[in-house]
Amino acid sequence: MKAIVYERYGPPDVLELKEVEKPTPKDNEVLIRTHATTVTSGDCRVRSLHMPVGFGLIARLVLGVSRPRQPILGSELAGKVESVGKDVKKFKVGDEVFAFTGARLGCHAEYKCMPEDGAVVLKPAKLTFDEAAAMSFGGTTALDFFRRGKLQLGEKVLVNGASGGVGTAAVQLARHFGAVVTGVCSTANVELVRSLGATQVIDYTKEDFTRNGETYDLIVDTAGTAAFSRSKDSLKEGGRLLLVLGGLPDMLQIPWVSMTNSKKIIAGPAAVRAEDLRFLANLAEAGEFRPVIDRCYPLEQIAEAHRYVDTGRKKGNVIITLEHDDLT
Ligand SMILES: NC(=O)c1ccc[n+]([C@@H]2O[C@H](COP(=O)([O-])OP(=O)(O)OC[C@H]3O[C@@H](n4cnc5c(N)ncnc54)[C@H](OP(=O)(O)O)[C@@H]3O)[C@@H](O)[C@H]2O)c1
Repeated sequence: MKAIVYERYGPPDVLELKEVEKPTPKDNEVLIRTHATTVTSGDCRVRSLHMPVGFGLIARLVLGVSRPRQPILGSELAGKVESVGKDVKKFKVGDEVFAFTGARLGCHAEYKCMPEDGAVVLKPAKLTFDEAAAMSFGGTTALDFFRRGKLQLGEKVLVNGASGGVGTAAVQLARHFGAVVTGVCSTANVELVRSLGATQVIDYTKEDFTRNGETYDLIVDTAGTAAFSRSKDSLKEGGRLLLVLGGLPDMLQIPWVSMTNSKKIIAGPAAVRAEDLRFLANLAEAGEFRPVIDRCYPLEQIAEAHRYVDTGRKKGNVIITLEHDDLT
């Protein structure tokens, strides 16, 4: 099968289209033929080893010290079940599904095996393969942080970096949970963020949300510009700062802040849960959640997609489409 392989860390040029062995499903696995996948900010971090401050060494230990242990990037996909292992009960050949492999990656390939009890669920009929491929990375991250931040109905939430992969999901989900949402983004994305359900949108090129006197129950920072030292006065008493993008120095402050303050910092990697994919699928089916798609590239042009995602300015998600004869 075709796959995008990288054998050393570096710029998008390290990515190569190669023929690799097609996987065979184990007894409890489904084999999915990929119709669409994404290039996320996470793929670009792993490819380049450009990590948040303080995490470079840890990342090398986890991902491979001198070369990547997992040579195929990609954490989410949508496609059709091509075959199933003999013990599989939940899926059948032909089912349209989407899946999230998280840090295990491996989705930038024509085929991927997933355990039936893993993060793989039926694709909502309302969504295209491109949209379904982009359900998981931003959606599960936002859900996990809102769960850890104990988001309550009616709370005021500010999403910094509201137009990115995580931000566009966070705005829609906060709105779904009954929060009053303020989004922060650049001028070009103000209308997009408003259309996702933000009541107020702050253009960070014109206004600094930390200096306008407004306070919030939750601040979600996906842009890395709202560290506690800068945003603490914008949090209400009992407010929570959700550092989706945070470095080691931010994390080291957490115990001290929680001992000395009514405000809290929540950080660290988001958990991968199959039930979160089901939750997102139900929301999508109900018309309450729809992944935002910026650009689509064919698999062969994935290096271009990486170059674009590397800019840190994408709007929602960047899709990689794979050609199949019976693609619907
Ligand atoms: N903790 C976890 O488990 C976890 C999970 C997923 C992602 N992450 C991290 O979260 C970060 C965001 O991920 P993503 O996929 O959403 O990235 P992304 O799609 O590249 O989006 C980043 C967004 O940040 C906005 N931005 C840039 N500068 C800004 C500023 N000064 N103020 C406000 N917004 C600004 C950009 O919007 P404009 O173009 O409008 O500026 C862009 O839309 C990444 O660093 C990623 O590594 C962490």
